[in-house]
Amino acid sequence: MLDRVAEIQAEAEAAVAAAGDTAELEELRVRYLGRKAELTGILRGIADLPQEERGKVGSGANRAQKELEAKLEARAVDLDSRELESRLDEDRVDVTLPAAPPRPIGHLHLITRTTRQIEDVMVGLGYRVMEGPEVEHDHYNFTALNHPPGHPARMLQDTFYVQSSPELLLRTHTSPVQPRSMETQPPPIFIVAPGKVYRRDSDATHSPMFHQVEGLAVGEGITLADLQGTLEEMLRAIFGPGREARMRPHFFPFTEPSVEFDVSCFQCDGTGFLAGGAQRCNLCKGIGWIEVGGAGMVDPNVLGFVESSGYDGERVQGFAFGMGVERIAMLRHGVPDLRRFFDNDVRMLEQFA
Ligand code: DAH
Repeated sequence: MLDRVAEIQAEAEAAVAAAGDTAELEELRVRYLGRKAELTGILRGIADLPQEERGKVGSGANRAQKELEAKLEARAVDLDSRELESRLDEDRVDVTLPAAPPRPIGHLHLITRTTRQIEDVMVGLGYRVMEGPEVEHDHYNFTALNHPPGHPARMLQDTFYVQSSPELLLRTHTSPVQPRSMETQPPPIFIVAPGKVYRRDSDATHSPMFHQVEGLAVGEGITLADLQGTLEEMLRAIFGPGREARMRPHFFPFTEPSVEFDVSCFQCDGTGFLAGGAQRCNLCKGIGWIEVGGAGMVDPNVLGFVESSGYDGERVQGFAFGMGVERIAMLRHGVPDLRRFFDNDVRMLEQFA
């Protein structure tokens, strides 16, 4: 009987030593020390043994049980700590890894991007960026820009009026930033003024709110040739190298002479034709030039309104220009309807990431 106890103990201890995890160990505990285990049976049957065997078998089986329990316990502690370690190892957080992929956060609106691109070119030419209010005094929007009260040129722009006395309106162009900026700084002045403007107008190429960029350069000896060179530099930065600028006579109350300026068509390279002459260019309508904005030499009457800030029309002169940002973006990206810029439909806007 004692031999059998030794056999069971040896077998059990070998199994415990070989156990790979705590679950397996628990099975062994049940198998060798549980209620139905052979050793438990032997201990339970001690009383039925012949008198002379009881003592030896009893103490032998008891010791075997105690020793096996101790081995199980030791192995459990060992396996437990190994399992904890491997869990810690697997679950380790590598704090040096980059964070979860950043969520896409969108991008600037095409109109903002186009505006900033124009600003960048002009800043590169030494201009400063100025802004003015969208709710404007009649004085800056019209009077100081040489539109006398009751002058018919006021009717050229469908103005939204906000208040009648003093007269406030939504600015119809960014040109009021001209007198505003000259009031605050003496010549020489080189500024660009981007911003929203408003007119009562709505169709495929007009919306009641749109964006313009104004330019103003006033100092000694500034000429129309400087305007030509500045426009060319700007148009090349926007529409690509090799573009030409052209000025055509026009009328604006605040410039004299006034011009409209065009860029040579970037689709047909100014020829007016595509496919080796077989097809009329649809972008410039076969003209070879695309209208971009208005410009001219600042009218001495405009300088007269800011004379007290140092603008002596006998001493300084300069040029101004203005253009629509939507129009430039539409031309460059082939957008057929200006109003799509402001529908806030991401399917439209995402295309210009
Ligand atoms: N303000 C004019 C408009 O909105 C555009 C313009 C024309 C601006 C001539 C100028 C300029 O600075 O010199 O139609």
